Amino acid sequence: MSTATHAAEGAASHLARVFAQYPIDVVRGEGVWIHARDGRKFLDFYGGHAVAGLGYGHPRWLAALERQARQIAFQTNALPMAIRERAAAKLVKFAGLGLDTVFWINSGAEANENALKLAFKLTGRTKAVALEQGWHGRTAAAGAVTWGAIEKWYGFPRRPFDVSFAPRDRPEAIEQYVDRDTAAVIVEPIQGVGGAYDLGKPMLEALRRRCDDTGALLIFDEVQCGMGRSGSPFAANHYGVTPDLLTTAKALGNGFPVAALLIARRIARQIRYDDMGTTFGGGPMACAVAEAVIDAIESESLLHNVRTVSTYIRANCLVGPVTGVQGEGLLLGLRTSRPAREVQAALMERNILTGTAGDPQVLRLLPAYILNESHVDQLCDALAQIHP
Ligand SMILES: Cc1ncc(COP(=O)(O)O)c(C=O)c1O
Repeated sequence: MSTATHAAEGAASHLARVFAQYPIDVVRGEGVWIHARDGRKFLDFYGGHAVAGLGYGHPRWLAALERQARQIAFQTNALPMAIRERAAAKLVKFAGLGLDTVFWINSGAEANENALKLAFKLTGRTKAVALEQGWHGRTAAAGAVTWGAIEKWYGFPRRPFDVSFAPRDRPEAIEQYVDRDTAAVIVEPIQGVGGAYDLGKPMLEALRRRCDDTGALLIFDEVQCGMGRSGSPFAANHYGVTPDLLTTAKALGNGFPVAALLIARRIARQIRYDDMGTTFGGGPMACAVAEAVIDAIESESLLHNVRTVSTYIRANCLVGPVTGVQGEGLLLGLRTSRPAREVQAALMERNILTGTAGDPQVLRLLPAYILNESHVDQLCDALAQIHP
């Protein structure tokens, strides 16, 4: 069975044909389960591409949305609102990294776009460094630092600045790439699209050191690996390496569009009016949701659950076509003996939804933080039935 067909085939669709479609017509979700129109029920290890951290229909999330919608659904950033401040304070405290200024925006790419712009503006330099296999979004600057984008889909006539890509597994090579012309180094501490690939502490420490030596700003893109997915608030906490700028999105809103750029104080002090801007960013609905997501992660001990279930997956999922497990927390890559797409299709036939990655031998798991061991048992049973 092919898992990627196009909905528009055979039926008129008014949607841009840019996404291959899985053959599941989703009508509703509940916890870690997705219900399809034809009555099938899928166990979701994909989480809407790492978005549904709390799962579907979480009561705190629903209550926050309803409460805020009744109170006031939107107001511009030019008018102060307590919820905007409260959510920023909550996010800064949750992160615990001393990055104590927040700029709210709407998507991961927009967060990276602003982080890069700040780095160029404040350093007056001309160059960015990113890592091979890194993925940062589809806008002009975020796409420019995304590995392989120019060759595959970038579309703009040229990059807005010079970019070089360093190998992701050679900390000793970083010096050759980052110099005094470098404004920013942008990395995902755990690469998502790159295959749930953990850069590791030595690499992150090498990047931090080299940025300190050259005056380049270090940006952690934690759009996918942040907000608890690593089992710590952010991967930066997990590795004990603090960037100058950190971007996050996806699980921050659990399905409501919200992203944040966290900024170190010494950088924030240099920002002037109009350096950044947004209409929808920092809207009260988005902030109420972000606050509720952090509340839920903290009060329901979800970081602990992420770590426990992750350990359980590592201990039990080496069955059938799975030859290894990489990544951290609930951003995991199952290395497969067969092409991961075939394993994904076989799991889908058994009503389990998983993701693939840039690496064709990696099946990506991005489930909700409420996942439990019995859900993992179902995945392991299904994997065991698939021919290696
Ligand atoms: C690491 C990373 N950065 C940035 C993005 C872009 O985020 P968005 O699609 O919200 O613009 C993604 C999306 O998959 C991502 O995984």
